[in-house]
Amino acid sequence: MQKILWTGEPGETLSELLETLGACRCMLVCGASYDGLGIRGAFERRLALRFSSFTPNPLWEQVEDGIALFREAGCDSLLAVGGGSAMDVAKCIKLRAGGQALPLIALPTTAGTGSESTRFAVVYRDGVKQSVADPCILPDYAVLAPGVLKTLPLYPKQCALLDALCQGVESWWSLNSTGESRGLSKRAVEQIRNHMDGYLAGDEASGGPILEAANLAGQAINSTQTTAAHAMSYKLTSLYHIPHGHAVALCLPEVWQHMLEHPRALRDPRGPAHLEGVLRDAARALGCPGPAEAVAWLRELPDRLGMERPAPKNCEKELPALVASVDPTRLANHPASLGEADFIVLYGRILNHGA
Ligand SMILES: [Fe+2]
Repeated sequence: MQKILWTGEPGETLSELLETLGACRCMLVCGASYDGLGIRGAFERRLALRFSSFTPNPLWEQVEDGIALFREAGCDSLLAVGGGSAMDVAKCIKLRAGGQALPLIALPTTAGTGSESTRFAVVYRDGVKQSVADPCILPDYAVLAPGVLKTLPLYPKQCALLDALCQGVESWWSLNSTGESRGLSKRAVEQIRNHMDGYLAGDEASGGPILEAANLAGQAINSTQTTAAHAMSYKLTSLYHIPHGHAVALCLPEVWQHMLEHPRALRDPRGPAHLEGVLRDAARALGCPGPAEAVAWLRELPDRLGMERPAPKNCEKELPALVASVDPTRLANHPASLGEADFIVLYGRILNHGA
């Protein structure tokens, strides 16, 4: 079981944690933003190594470098401080270098992926996305420090928030959902909807609720996994460099619209009433009277937030690669059947912004 710790003094909390764990040679895996966060404390004396040599969508070779350094330095624990990429790298190092017995502490500096509370990691090998899923990479401790969110620039902040929102919605309608996971999704989506404007406007009091919501959505997908919107998003990121959360947010309304247009493609064994209820509840949590309005609201959201529209070129030429890229593992969790012809229509709409 994971422990979730809230703190206003992350340096102190980390110091106490490493001391309790008896960790003397900790490997810090962090992004470039680490120094600007001002996390200081006695824990720094327990850091044997700092590893930041990885890119936003981390490559397997970078993970391998990290594993080699971890071993060389004789590290006894891992501390990940950063966004999803730092978490992904630390999780993969844990999996290869120590497994279950190696303590991993995760302190997210974005409110988005919820990766601090999932057993998943994504790395790229030879340009192909690899999904790692293993119970042993669920961090032992998630340290939630809303104060660190202040330093995040607006666009990454928006992308992270959209990722959390989409994860909440996708988990809600996932074929793997349970009463418990749907409860987490509902809290996550409502909380994001209620606090997002304040949070993006820089209201500090909204940081805690948004960080909590992102964590709840992370817990929800930890049990249900994501669905078609995530499955379709990865190639948009690798091909057009659209950040993950933005890419998923472009896919989500189109995938939802497809469900409304193709009721016969719905395939949740719990029956049509179950999914209809979920879609209705999710729409309400988004502050919309019904699913059609929720789709419209989601389509307009990036524009409303002032996010620049990505303008991919030659997308007709790249359609076959996009269609072939759809992640089958995540697609298997989706409550509607989708085939090649659907993906051609959906990618067309995604790249033309719902037109
Ligand atoms: Fe995501």
